[in-house]
Amino acid sequence: MLNIAVLVSGGGTNLQALIDAQNRGEIKNGRITSVISSKDGVYALERAKQNGIPTRVIPRKEYSDIHAYTKAVTEALIEEKADLVVYAGFMTILDGQIVKAFEGRMMNVHPALIPSFCGKGFYGLHVHEAVLASGVKLTGATVHFVTEDCDGGPIIIQKAVNINNDDTPETLQKRVMEQCEWKILPKAVSLFCEGRIKIIGNKTVVE
Ligand code: GAR
Repeated sequence: MLNIAVLVSGGGTNLQALIDAQNRGEIKNGRITSVISSKDGVYALERAKQNGIPTRVIPRKEYSDIHAYTKAVTEALIEEKADLVVYAGFMTILDGQIVKAFEGRMMNVHPALIPSFCGKGFYGLHVHEAVLASGVKLTGATVHFVTEDCDGGPIIIQKAVNINNDDTPETLQKRVMEQCEWKILPKAVSLFCEGRIKIIGNKTVVE
């Protein structure tokens, strides 16, 4: 059984999707053993507590620079004996220390079809605003491994949805979450825990 640590910063609906999948027995060979938040008081922490999952808050604002912050998070994950680290709405870009410690064992869910609408500045609702402003007809979500290249690591699963004429950033975010993120994140986590994802260069193969 692998230990899954989930990093959060906000509402935690992706964390909830993981918890629900776990409760349905859909996370094969893994258990969520720890939730770490970059902010105090966020609802994701409540979701973890309601499900008996240990939590830690490592507030980003208490660290002067990203190096010190990454060190604190990396040490916490080592203490938690994490086998897989999942960024689920985690809004801080950590530096290379964590990639070194957990290379090939960290994944992130991004609310767009990478390599479009990703990288620094593309997070949360901003992603959907940019998608709508561009006029593309399809968007979706991506789960990928985390490397030092922000949103640039090997892609594990993607899922697309259509964009409607009357979409707002909020309606699009909701549809991308419901139809894409909440489905592909638990799936990718389970595949990893079953040892079914092979990384070959900047690609993955699911077996
Ligand atoms: C999700 O849409 C997630 O994909 C996005 O933030 C939201 C968090 O929601 N993450 C990013 O934009 C990271 N670049 P949640 O806290 O309800 O899971």
